[in-house]
Amino acid sequence: VGLVDRNRRLNADEIRQGKTILGSTPLQINFELIGYCNIVPPCLYCSGKNHGYNYAPLDAAYLDGYSDFIRNAEHLNEDSFGEPLMHKKLTALARTATSRGQRFSFVSNGLLLSGTRAQELAECGERLGFHVSLNAATPEMYYKLHGQPFDKVLGNVERYIALYQEINGGLSPDLVLTFIVMRVNRHEIFPFLELAQRLRVRPLLAQLHDRPSIPLGKFGYDFVYENEMLSPAEYFEVGEHVRAFARERGMENVVIQWDPEYDSAVLSFHRDQDRAVEDAGARATGAKRPAAWNYSPQPRAAAPAGGPS
Ligand SMILES: C[S@@+](CC[C@H](N)C(=O)[O-])C[C@H]1O[C@@H](n2cnc3c(N)ncnc32)[C@H](O)[C@@H]1O
Ligand code: SF4
Repeated sequence: VGLVDRNRRLNADEIRQGKTILGSTPLQINFELIGYCNIVPPCLYCSGKNHGYNYAPLDAAYLDGYSDFIRNAEHLNEDSFGEPLMHKKLTALARTATSRGQRFSFVSNGLLLSGTRAQELAECGERLGFHVSLNAATPEMYYKLHGQPFDKVLGNVERYIALYQEINGGLSPDLVLTFIVMRVNRHEIFPFLELAQRLRVRPLLAQLHDRPSIPLGKFGYDFVYENEMLSPAEYFEVGEHVRAFARERGMENVVIQWDPEYDSAVLSFHRDQDRAVEDAGARATGAKRPAAWNYSPQPRAAAPAGGPS
């Protein structure tokens, strides 16, 4: 039994026994490699960057000090408030983790997803997952928000999918396209979902954080943060329309981040449980998924007062 499996089992036993001091180490470790970003001036909605929040790249050797924890974790998540593909060691870390049987993930703007980087990431196979932030379905909207060419990011994503399939026996990558729903782009949600369906990747709709900032750049659109935020009732209404659209199109993979039914922590927990069972070969013997002891299904939120009828 490998380090990851041993740690996962120990952790499950300790949680079941209600232990408060654990011998197991965290199953997931989040770390940030870089605070710099290749989009300058920043995306209009990026609160941190528009407030001037930048930090230098981390020397990857720093992580060696935590190697006991890192080797035991089943999931390493790179969580930069910058662009992780700018970090020289990102692909090497992804390769080391996935070749050890660990899951590795990150979030990217996708503009650097090409060449050697794309090749090295595709070679990591099914244990690598990442999100690409799109927020648009047309070049006009993408430029308005990011000041960058849509064709570049879309071309990178399309080529990456083709490359991944070529290297991984026709399988699709674990790739999520994200879309922050704002007033300016909400009319592109359905075309965005169609794009994700065409590319056979998972679409994720997210809320604009309640952290207003004033954009440093201007790409032909007067972005006033506070005006771009939808009310809870509007997000609820968007969610209902998206659910109906997804049903009609037979899309079962749409994630609406503000919907309690799609709570990412719960979903991730279930996926990890599934993986644990699979890894142990328990499916072959008909074993059931282990009980999710910290999960109770939440009823769907009722329509907020004043919301769509
Ligand atoms: C800070 S970015 C870092 C990764 C990468 N540079 C990118 O943009 O994908 C991480 C995620 O935060 C999202 N994000 C940035 N500003 C946001 C805001 N004001 N509200 C909601 N999400 C935001 C981005 O769209 C992205 O999906
Ligand atoms: S690409 Fe990401 S980190 Fe860079 S400005 Fe846009 S949201 Fe912020």
